[in-house]
Amino acid sequence: MTRITLPGLIDVHVHLREPGGEHKEDYASGTAAAIGGGITCVLDMPNTTPPTTDAAQLRAKHALARRGARCDVGIFVGASTDNAETVGGLAPHACALKIYVNSTFGPLRVDDWQLLERQIANWPLTRPIVTHSEGDVLPRVLELAKRHAKPLHIAHVATRQEIETIAAAKDAGQPLTCEVTPHHLVLTRDDLPRLGPLGDVRPRLAAPDDRAALWQYLQYIDCVATDHAPHTLAEKHSANVPPGLPGLETSLPLMLTAVDDGRLSLEQLTALMATNPARIFGLAPQPDTYVEVEVGRRRQIDSTGLQTKCGWTPFAGVEVAGRVIRTVLRGRTVFDGDRVLAEPGSGRVLYGYDENEE
Ligand code: NCD
Ligand code: ZN
Repeated sequence: MTRITLPGLIDVHVHLREPGGEHKEDYASGTAAAIGGGITCVLDMPNTTPPTTDAAQLRAKHALARRGARCDVGIFVGASTDNAETVGGLAPHACALKIYVNSTFGPLRVDDWQLLERQIANWPLTRPIVTHSEGDVLPRVLELAKRHAKPLHIAHVATRQEIETIAAAKDAGQPLTCEVTPHHLVLTRDDLPRLGPLGDVRPRLAAPDDRAALWQYLQYIDCVATDHAPHTLAEKHSANVPPGLPGLETSLPLMLTAVDDGRLSLEQLTALMATNPARIFGLAPQPDTYVEVEVGRRRQIDSTGLQTKCGWTPFAGVEVAGRVIRTVLRGRTVFDGDRVLAEPGSGRVLYGYDENEE
């Protein structure tokens, strides 16, 4: 058994559900889950109710996050059918623009190609554009980004076809980054009979060959991001199953297990979970911020003691070889391996408004 210190991790894809989905998660519970998982900065998605697509909603979300966050939070704005000419003005207070080209949970969608082109063309170069662009739409999205010389970050790459498309575009010199989720690295559709509705997620769990391709093309992958998307167990077991699963507390243990198994080096883990996310999203370093982990002792993940409000994990029963024993944010122990010690509101919200703007 070994103890290792890692930098505070950054998760560039989380859904903290405020406003409108507080019964699933809120800033206080979601950031408790983050620090319990060794993550000290999260970037929060815009598919809330209402969605974060204008100045009033972005401001309201900043206020909610300032009150609730226990770690640092950056807030995404979302592309909608009616904000292509205005959303760029929100860039100074947003971590990035999210464009949903495919259907998923929530109403945000840009599936008209002319509109998509305007959204990509109008967004300033100061912050990244992140796309949910699965399967056949991916090459067309890459083409539009190339035409307008905009660097893209591709969310949750899940298939061989997608990672091979991205690898080819990167090799051809296109400015492009991408993330994969721990669930696509660990689970496949073969797990669906066991998981039932708990395994329903977008992108869907894929074939074993797709999972193998993600590992094979690891050097083309820039970030591991959880796509932490909590829904209640009642919702997951309802007739209308919402896609999405939680991941903040299991991401690092799963990736440390890959290190223990010799599939990943600690240097790669640090690049995927801290340094690359910081570089791609231009995030300032968090001084005196680190995570202490214990590696080597095997245990099974279970659903007890989770910080996420949804209270379940699709990885229950999965054997892992890593555990977070302490998370330190700006010199303060915010998680002691057992308890969350940071209060709501002690985290920072990135790209805030001036006091007199509030
Ligand atoms: C996400 C959600 O629930 O907000 N669901 C999911 O399956 N990943 C939406 C998303 O990121 O696609
Ligand atoms: Zn998501």
